[in-house]
Amino acid sequence: MTEATGTVPLVEASGIVKRYGPTVALQDGRLTVRAGESHALVGRNGAGKSTLVSVLTGLQAPDAGTVRFDGEAPPPLADRDAWRAKVACVYQKPTVVPGLTVAENLFLGRQPTGRSGFISWRRLHAEAAQLLETWDVRVDPGAATADLKVEDRQMVEIARALSLGSRFIVLDEPTAQLDNREIERLFDRMRALQESGVTFLFISHHLQEVYEVCQTVTVLRDARWITTAPVAELPRTALIEAMAGEAVTAQGGAPRGRVADDAPVRLHVRGLTSQAYTSVDLDIRRGEVVGLAGSSASGKIELAETFAGLHTPHSGSAELDGTPLPFGDVPKALRAGVGCVPRDRHDQGLVSGMSIGDNATMSVLDRLGRFGLVPAAVKRDRAEELISRLDIRAEGPDQPVSDLSGGNAQKVVMARSLASDPRLLVLINPTAGVDVKSKESLLARMDTAREDGTAVLVVSDELDDLRRCDRVLVLFHGKVVASHPAGWHDHELIASIEGVQDAEGDESRG
Ligand SMILES: Nc1ncnc2c1ncn2[C@@H]1O[C@H](COP(=O)(O)OP(=O)(O)OP(=O)(O)O)[C@@H](O)[C@H]1O
Ligand SMILES: [Mg+2]
Repeated sequence: MTEATGTVPLVEASGIVKRYGPTVALQDGRLTVRAGESHALVGRNGAGKSTLVSVLTGLQAPDAGTVRFDGEAPPPLADRDAWRAKVACVYQKPTVVPGLTVAENLFLGRQPTGRSGFISWRRLHAEAAQLLETWDVRVDPGAATADLKVEDRQMVEIARALSLGSRFIVLDEPTAQLDNREIERLFDRMRALQESGVTFLFISHHLQEVYEVCQTVTVLRDARWITTAPVAELPRTALIEAMAGEAVTAQGGAPRGRVADDAPVRLHVRGLTSQAYTSVDLDIRRGEVVGLAGSSASGKIELAETFAGLHTPHSGSAELDGTPLPFGDVPKALRAGVGCVPRDRHDQGLVSGMSIGDNATMSVLDRLGRFGLVPAAVKRDRAEELISRLDIRAEGPDQPVSDLSGGNAQKVVMARSLASDPRLLVLINPTAGVDVKSKESLLARMDTAREDGTAVLVVSDELDDLRRCDRVLVLFHGKVVASHPAGWHDHELIASIEGVQDAEGDESRG
């Protein structure tokens, strides 16, 4: 295809079809990426984005369709090195080996050898340091990869890809686990790398990021290409419409009626202290939704996880309806009435070998049937109800969760935490990885949990999640530094998250 500009696209995929048994993951996948641009790939959960990436990176052969790099046919699938020299993908899950150092990961499988033929550790270290410096990645090459922060790990993966010759980098939801400041840093790096000729394909459910860092956007819907346009020509409502396939009403997001001041306290926390947080006092009433905000290092996740039985604090107490919560024991916390959407759905969330239905109803088995024997029909009904309530895109309750797209798997975790009718619901980044439309239904579920008297604690980096809360507590270096009742302005919350203390009486300011 020759155009007026006469430039051949860096990457061109057309007519891509990919099926998994009865599931059509891609029916008509198309993508044209021009050298030097940052190109966004968006679509609802299960639209086929990650599937297209797996075809573009040579991890899977499409059932039909073609991929071209610079107008040329791609290497054979088996030639991994040739693929790596063309394209790399940084996933949410690390692809670096945690047990190795940064330097070892950078040169995995191609370590510099000395004259003796053995690996030269000194050269390895020096070359790694040089590579990191070339790409301005400020990470110690001798550091253990397992200890890296997510943002540093991503940069190491990008540096590794660049050193293998790739100038096309796919980022599949890179911001889902980063706090605001880390996201800004990632974007700064992306812009700098773009300046030096690197091309990005960027996948995100945070549409404002698409506008911030990309020049072109491609929308997939129901396994098909819908449109490709300059971001400047596709305003947010049009973009959401293209993703959803229908006109979308303005997002409400307004908080429901506030919880009554005399509602009885469900969660009563005093002086809770651990390595990650200090002297936390916290009360959550029946039907109250409390948000917990802070940077990645603030201790907010550890605090929330403590109530779900994942940690044992050094001192202090937490009571649910007057009964001390069991610390450090997840099944006990569950039995005590705590439901949790954990941080890492892969490790803590789902049993990947099991079906959607089994996963969604797992924790409630003993509630649905006596002596743990659940009639299959009851389980099925319950699972089908959850699938439709949370708008999970799947073949049915019997499909294994390992087949699900990232966002749909997330909804199964949410379904499960709700299925147990908890008295305290702990949600950790509940909408991370979930598309804009499903986000609304997840948040609406939060509202109904509130109506039946559940106390809800939501940890989130997203202001839209927090806006729904009756109040938002901000943690900074493990201490509660602010409490914002519903109706706060973005800049106020962000200021306290960043540790910029507003002077007293500042709230009267314009
Ligand atoms: N290994 C697999 N086996 C069966 N079905 C699969 C498999 N991988 C993906 N699918 C299905 O293909 C469809 C597209 O999935 P894909 O992961 O590409 O979606 P996505 O656009 O990346 O969604 P998300 O935003 O949730 O990550 C989904 O319906 C998913 O369930
Ligand atoms: Mg995906």
